[in-house]
Amino acid sequence: MTPANLDWANLTFSYTKTDYNVRCTYKNGEWGPIEVSDSEYIPLHIAASCLHYGQESFEGLKAFRGKDGKVRIFRMEENAKRFIRSAEGISMQPMPVELFCEMVRKVVKLNERFIPPYGTGASLYIRPLEIGVTPLVGVSPATEYIVIMLVTPVGPYFKNGFKPIKVCMSREYDRVAPKGTGSIKIGGNYAASLNAGQMAHSKGYGNMLYFDPKDKTYIDECGAANFFAIKDNTYITPGSETVLPSITNMSLEVLAEDLGMKVERRLFKVDEFNDFEECSACGTAAVCSPIGQIDDLDTGESYKFGKEGEAGPMTTALYNKLRAIQYGEEEDIHNWCEVLDI
Ligand code: PLP
Ligand code: COI
Repeated sequence: MTPANLDWANLTFSYTKTDYNVRCTYKNGEWGPIEVSDSEYIPLHIAASCLHYGQESFEGLKAFRGKDGKVRIFRMEENAKRFIRSAEGISMQPMPVELFCEMVRKVVKLNERFIPPYGTGASLYIRPLEIGVTPLVGVSPATEYIVIMLVTPVGPYFKNGFKPIKVCMSREYDRVAPKGTGSIKIGGNYAASLNAGQMAHSKGYGNMLYFDPKDKTYIDECGAANFFAIKDNTYITPGSETVLPSITNMSLEVLAEDLGMKVERRLFKVDEFNDFEECSACGTAAVCSPIGQIDDLDTGESYKFGKEGEAGPMTTALYNKLRAIQYGEEEDIHNWCEVLDI
């Protein structure tokens, strides 16, 4: 039975209730069984460490209904590995890769009727999260943790589709600290970015492009997404320690090489914007979100890329190639997708 009230083609990147979520608790030194719940709520102690001291990490990945009707999950082992790094980064118990993958498979299968049909451009977003649940008043790591995985069908992240957005830069805002938590996916990073995001939106920008937090010289990342540029048939992305290693970016680098481009992961400054032919943000939610204009709010400089209102050709080619693999339209030569037996 498909959900009767869902307009697949017009889904946005927002929460829709599905049938089940899955949970797993770490207690007395071991992970328990995977539990299935139909409740959207969790019982939490009022002194739980996630509430007071921010012990929370999360992931984001997608399942796709392919051209052949099969369901594909994109690179979930990479999310599992990053989930471990995030847990370790804030002294939480890391979940083994195989248990993570088992939970993902289970939550997708349980909610199969919410996987959008092929051709709608939509997908099933999977959101794993881990929280410390031990009641604590002193600042120390919890001893009990819960991993929850919920799913929700989503459309494209950006309301206006695959069209260039305008972003801004400002040295007045940092997303993370130089030796801080930028390279892991914890809730605190997102809380710390909200003011910058609100400021950017209030001025009509799609997002904030951050400088590196140490020297305020190099380009870091773009809101909750990585950044890449194209110049002379070369894919250039910041080689910075303070950005989240994006699985989409990692995949696009491989596809860029497949398309005969050179790939450079290195630091670069605003000065290079004048040479860039194309710029884009990238991440699970949008794959690529082309950037047509970057305004430096501190200097008043404005940088423009490509034809007004159009995504550049290389960004478009990379976007199409990755989507084709995810929807089973093109052979998955890198073995990035797990096909589910449903
Ligand atoms: N950077 C940040 C801060 C993010 O939140 C995300 C989203 O997950 C990304 C980059 C893109 O990473 P991925 O491609 O793994 O989704
Ligand atoms: C992404 O998946 O690309 C994101 O930006 C994740 C965000 C919704 C937290």
